[in-house]
Amino acid sequence: TSTESEYDIVVIGGGPGGYVAAIKAAQLGLKTACIEKRGSLGGTCTNVGCIPSKALLNNSHIYHQTTHDLKSRGIDVENVKLNLVNMMKAKDKAITGLARGIEGLFKKYGVTYLKGHGKFSGADKIEIDGLDGQKTSVRAKDIIIATGSEPSPFKGLEVDEKQIVTSTGALSLEKVPEKMVVIGGGIIGLELGSVWHRLGSEVTVVEYLSSIGAGMDGETAKSLLRILQKQGLKFKLDTKVIDASKKDGKVSVNVEPSKGGNKEILEADVVLVSIGRRPYTENLGLENVGIDVDEKGRIKIDSQFRTSKPNIRCIGDVTYGAMLAHKAEEEGVAAVEYIANGHGHVNYDVIPSVIYTHPEVAWCGNFPFLANSRARTNDDAEGFVKMISDEETDAILGVHIIGPNAGEMISEAVLAMEYGASSEDIARTCHAHPTLSEALKEAALATYSKPINF
Ligand code: FAD
Ligand code: NAI
Repeated sequence: TSTESEYDIVVIGGGPGGYVAAIKAAQLGLKTACIEKRGSLGGTCTNVGCIPSKALLNNSHIYHQTTHDLKSRGIDVENVKLNLVNMMKAKDKAITGLARGIEGLFKKYGVTYLKGHGKFSGADKIEIDGLDGQKTSVRAKDIIIATGSEPSPFKGLEVDEKQIVTSTGALSLEKVPEKMVVIGGGIIGLELGSVWHRLGSEVTVVEYLSSIGAGMDGETAKSLLRILQKQGLKFKLDTKVIDASKKDGKVSVNVEPSKGGNKEILEADVVLVSIGRRPYTENLGLENVGIDVDEKGRIKIDSQFRTSKPNIRCIGDVTYGAMLAHKAEEEGVAAVEYIANGHGHVNYDVIPSVIYTHPEVAWCGNFPFLANSRARTNDDAEGFVKMISDEETDAILGVHIIGPNAGEMISEAVLAMEYGASSEDIARTCHAHPTLSEALKEAALATYSKPINF
């Protein structure tokens, strides 16, 4: 038997983009449903992304600090042992707690949670293949696609999530690999490479380009490289992976210099493929409604998140822009506001990026080295804050931070930029002493005048 129900808005995908959109829609009084096929809300971020990676980063940092750093701080500890099973349990607890929390919010605000795979059969109709085996369908005046992304495959390397893994497998390894090769020195490679290095793996990151951090500011990337190398991670830059083969429980990875040269074989117990992510639209039935995607598979939208079918909007990783949870969330709210009120807004100029290594790296703002902008650096042992502001107006154009708590500190810069602040505005704002945020004030001072403490 098949049933059909009707809603004002149906959201496909329960990740940070989708669940936030659904809650916002319900809060604005619209009858809302959210379709999610994973069996758990929160999407990539909560289940196999931000949350598990940050849980492992935090706890592996505590372990590493305990084994490497406590003695010099005057704390003697003995018999410190890693219990990976329990570390994974702590991670899983964070995931289930947060995913259930979202389910609770759906109940609180009256969002109907439809568990199953959604597929378009018409511009206002979606067939649902339920996780319980039931087939149902829903109709809605407005639909939001928020189906997210998946790891980009490496041609010729078959992922088994045990020996050759994506981030998903790397978040659930059953033992610490002796040797790990990471393909791609971007955000995932650096974060998860750090996790397993701290837990005892010999980690080698192979990066095709001559710098790490997937396009972050060059000076910051160089500094991060030096710091991570000092910690013991190995890097092979300007190097490309040709192929890899499994034998006797090991993986041999063939690499060669990007510009040609002598081949080399890297032996590994686990290979992490982290060369980027791609939009996910599998079996979504886009062809049934004529929704266009671009050459990278991203769903095409206009400035109001409308696809080629105006009543179907699209947000998050599956369309243009940074693949970040907070970006997807902002779009979720804005897309719903367009539907409900006719206007919404996301300021793409100030979406912060954070790499949760230790130290953390954070940045926001456009970062062209324009002739009319100037950059000064406030350097200290643990990294630096770099602020770029307009030479004429002093308006802040971008901020790059490398240091402990950079991810928290960047919010001050984002807020300042959102309100169009100048570097002088930050420099003249009183910051508590001693705090890390004083570094931002000093950088601001350095940008418009001279730093006091440097
Ligand atoms: P997703 O979170 O991918 O959610 C889409 C959901 O849609 C999925 O749950 C999927 O099951 C569901 N779905 C897809 N198709 C259908 C269908 N047809 N029917 C029903 N359901 C469907 N970002 C940060 O900002 N900070 C971080 O620290 C961070 N860390 C990360 C760490 C890792 C290891 C990874 C992989 C990613 C990380 N990200 C981080 C990126 C972040 O996870 C994504 O940007 C974010 O999840 C995108 O949200 P979304 O809602 O667009 O899509
Ligand atoms: P990425 O785009 O950050 O980095 C990929 C890296 O792989 C680049 O440096 C690229 O030059 C390199 N590369 C590509 N092909 C290669 C090849 N054949 N051989 C060697 N190197 C190659 O992608 P990543 O790390 O997979 O992460 C995907 C996305 O997930 C991120 O861009 C980000 O949007 C999101 N993410 C965000 C996090 C955060 O906000 N802290 C954490 C983790 C992921």
